[in-house]
Amino acid sequence: MLSARSVYAEIFDDDEAFRLFCSIAASGETQGGWENGRIAALVPGSYRDLAPKIARHGADEDKHGRIFTALLRMRGLQVTPVPADADYTMRLEAAGIGLAHSRLRADQELTARDIITYLTHSRVTEQRAAEQMRTLRKHSRDHPDVARAVRVISNDEDNHLAYCHEELLRLAKAGHADFIRDTLRTTALAEIAIYRDVSIAVMAHLGRILGWSGPKAAVLAAGIQAIYRYERLGGWRRMTSLRMPARRNALGEPAPAATRGGFG
Ligand SMILES: [Fe+2]
Ligand SMILES: [Fe+2]
Repeated sequence: MLSARSVYAEIFDDDEAFRLFCSIAASGETQGGWENGRIAALVPGSYRDLAPKIARHGADEDKHGRIFTALLRMRGLQVTPVPADADYTMRLEAAGIGLAHSRLRADQELTARDIITYLTHSRVTEQRAAEQMRTLRKHSRDHPDVARAVRVISNDEDNHLAYCHEELLRLAKAGHADFIRDTLRTTALAEIAIYRDVSIAVMAHLGRILGWSGPKAAVLAAGIQAIYRYERLGGWRRMTSLRMPARRNALGEPAPAATRGGFG
């Protein structure tokens, strides 16, 4: 029977599919780590208190990249290049969502608006990451290595999301509410379309590797389109609401040294 669980099982059980899956994940995480590392280095003086949290955010994403690479190594596999159409992070950047990489490569201090752009981009993409990790948690129970890795990452993504809510609420109170609301809306509406396109592309690449039949690929593509329709009709609002999280100051501590070097 075709279910999310059976599709994930197929991906986890096939070396080539698993290799592409983990390579795409590792690349997105590492890209996020680089972006946050640059943002932390360019924080304007008036936002200095945020710099350690942004650095922690970046360190976590780098760690996630290493975890996905370690999952490959444990199976004797190497990272494979990510097809451009399956590159979520780069497609968001190309669409003008978040801070431009040219801006991050330049050694010029960011502005208050840049910091809000970073946080709104994170509010939306961390919602996606947190949801994806919760789904993976559910469907990786029969694969202990994957399940253990996903548990660690999932907990971090929940922290990242809590941090975005808290910091954006603080900035909204400080007089940036209109800019935050508008940017969140634009970001979420762009993200849901890019997420759909990337999902279709990833499914097509995996389908070729796994030899999926036309009807099976069509059912999965229809599922992705249905999710997009739900998000377009209002589901996107879950990515833009702001609520004070139960977990406060979630990124208040530097990354523990033990987690910097390797797995978990
Ligand atoms: Fe991550
Ligand atoms: Fe994250």
